[in-house]
Amino acid sequence: MLTKRSYIDGVNPEAELLREGAEWLRAGELVAFPTETVYGLGANALDASACAKIYEAKGRPQDNPLIVHVCNRAMADSLVAFWTPEAELCVQHFWPGPLTLVMSKTTKLPEIVTAGLVNVAIRMPSHPVALRLIEETGLPIAAPSANLSGKPSPTSGSHVWRDMKGKIPLILDSGTCLVGLESTVLDVSGGIPTILRPGGISREQLEEVLGEVQVDAPSETQAPKAPGMKYRHYAPKGEMILMMGSPERIIQRMGREIQKGHARLKKVGVLCSLEVAPFLHNQFPELLFVLGSKNRPEEIASNLFEGLRLCDERGMDLILAEGVEERGLGTAIMNRLQKASGKLTLNI
Ligand code: TXA
Ligand code: MG
Repeated sequence: MLTKRSYIDGVNPEAELLREGAEWLRAGELVAFPTETVYGLGANALDASACAKIYEAKGRPQDNPLIVHVCNRAMADSLVAFWTPEAELCVQHFWPGPLTLVMSKTTKLPEIVTAGLVNVAIRMPSHPVALRLIEETGLPIAAPSANLSGKPSPTSGSHVWRDMKGKIPLILDSGTCLVGLESTVLDVSGGIPTILRPGGISREQLEEVLGEVQVDAPSETQAPKAPGMKYRHYAPKGEMILMMGSPERIIQRMGREIQKGHARLKKVGVLCSLEVAPFLHNQFPELLFVLGSKNRPEEIASNLFEGLRLCDERGMDLILAEGVEERGLGTAIMNRLQKASGKLTLNI
């Protein structure tokens, strides 16, 4: 299939490009589009065979349900059986934005969207291209992240191009995504609100509005409530070591690990903070990628997936990543880093 990549204005999207996107979507085809978190791979959520194409293009396991994107409350109302008070509060405070709400569904959606679950995940994105595209289509849009399954989510049009070229007819490219990590998935279907996936809205932010908020902690015997969380996502090809500690210790230990890696003839990539990076230059890692300042987790979040992808593209055999403090957005950053490293964390 021939893939067209159209550059679209992220603030005032061009009407004719939105129309073209909407036409493909109404015809049952896939369109990749930017959101404030990561790029989405969209299909008409009411069309089972259009949604089936998503699974095929991504190579996504069939038991992993899709987030449905809406552009207004009325559209969400048609898909949700009932709104709990917590869901209402979330809508008031966090929509449009990087928060996905899991709620009881109506019978309007085909089974494939929810992978047979009784609840549906819904999000109203804040990105003008996403909102206006859904509006123009006039339909709820099912969209997972627009990466191949197992790769980091795409945070730029170039990432989508590399993963989806030849598989879908249209990519709407408006450059880099603001947040750079996926939305928080929050179960507000009843009982204490539960975070199924940490993301763009932090637990602290949610607790300010909702009071008590739990985090789904799947055990050995119990599967996570968001099926997607059981897969080893965001895993680079090389071995990855995640390091936690003060900048001084990180500098020392990373220096040693770079040397050890080189002694084993490994190409070594480093993902670290602005505070640590200048002290590692003279250790000559093959790739030194600055994630951002330790004081600005939002900067680190927005650069993380680009860094992980680059390590793969440049063929790094060993990746040394500096962790961040686990609070606010830092919790979501650490969740993705831990998945990428397969839980290989060094506390130094
Ligand atoms: O920021 C985002 O959420 C992006 C953009 C495109 O909106 N989308 C995204 O979708 O990250 P995806 O498919 O890559 O991740 C969706 C996560 C998966 O872990 C999935 O299992 C979970 O949400 N999920 C979807 N529907 C669910 C449901 N009905 N119940 C529980 N978890 C659900
Ligand atoms: Mg994904």
